[in-house]
Amino acid sequence: MDDAATATREDPFARLTEPDLRRRTSVKWRRFAPDVLPLWVAEMDVDLAEPVVDALQRAIRDGDTGYPCGPGYAEAYASFAAERWGWEPAIDPIRLVPDVMIGISEVFKTLTSPGDTVIVDPPVYPPFYSYLRHLGRRIRPVPLGPDLRLDLAALEAAFARSRADGAGTAMLLCNPHNPTGTVHSAAELATLASLAARHDVLMVVDEIHAPLTLPGAEFTPFLSVPGGESGIVVTSAAKGWNLSGLKAGLAIPGRAAADALARMPEEVGHGASHLGVIAHSAALHDGGRWLDDVRHALLAHRGLLVDLLREQLPSLGWRPGEGTYLAWLDFRALDLGDDPAAVLVERARVALTPGPPFGPEGDGFARLNLATSPAIMGEAVRRIAAAVAG
Ligand SMILES: Cc1ncc(COP(=O)(O)O)c(C=O)c1O
Repeated sequence: MDDAATATREDPFARLTEPDLRRRTSVKWRRFAPDVLPLWVAEMDVDLAEPVVDALQRAIRDGDTGYPCGPGYAEAYASFAAERWGWEPAIDPIRLVPDVMIGISEVFKTLTSPGDTVIVDPPVYPPFYSYLRHLGRRIRPVPLGPDLRLDLAALEAAFARSRADGAGTAMLLCNPHNPTGTVHSAAELATLASLAARHDVLMVVDEIHAPLTLPGAEFTPFLSVPGGESGIVVTSAAKGWNLSGLKAGLAIPGRAAADALARMPEEVGHGASHLGVIAHSAALHDGGRWLDDVRHALLAHRGLLVDLLREQLPSLGWRPGEGTYLAWLDFRALDLGDDPAAVLVERARVALTPGPPFGPEGDGFARLNLATSPAIMGEAVRRIAAAVAG
């Protein structure tokens, strides 16, 4: 059913041409020289959802550019979660934060201490390391397994070891996982939540990519699983609707974590922008159809990349994920060294995200962003194949 639905939808990424995109001034299209095709940072090459454009235009027209007020964003999120995932958080304890990474940082500042251990599961989004290091937290990596799924036995051992060390322990989880696109299952999350409860580990979960779970896969909110009520989720509409330039995020406590999150200073919310709140709320409230077009297009792009790689780069490894628009590509058989992205930007004039900053597991890997037009994807793969061939 999903394949049929995918085949009959228009691809929103096909509407914008390369010259259209080169007019953009954000980092994806400006970091590299104009002859480089950028398939790197997590921005999407798509027009904004109409309800978002309408809400922003209305705000600008009305001079509605002051400070945010009220629970509208939290309510929009709760309705979206209820409709999509059959689970609804309580509104009152939800806190506005400037964006997801600053929200995560403020949650750790409030609920952990310098020297505490934070477990992460590499390869993982590089700012997880930099923000935690900046806070003076000790990072303990527990890599994903070879199937790119959580290694629950290793996590249990790490929880037990950290507890034996005597320091406070937390885990920063990413679901869906950047860069692999892994969508953790309800069973995995329930096991993780029960292990965390047993070893007194604070679970902080970044669910920013959740709206981009692909058709056919199922996303489970961490706070909805048994034992998840002691966790804290930090999220926003930024990835799902391409709103990273419009800052506004949410920190959502499980039932048992509401009092703890309430200790986060009130000023943290002051960093969110009112236009951001307006945009994210409109996306969650009225952007469902747009999101579904994007999700179906990304599913088709994933299939297209499978075909392109099979035809042109058969020795490149890739285990496609079920969420996000990110493809975690294994170049190790191609002998491009630890950082294939550095080689390819020079030789192929294609920018991918380098693998090594995701952790040592990223050596020999690079991340490709599927949220672009099929034409640009096709040209990027053609250039990479030509560069490695010659
Ligand atoms: C997993 C993850 N978390 C957080 C962010 C950044 O979110 P924000 O700009 O709201 O800090 C990204 C951006 O790509 C991401 O992939």
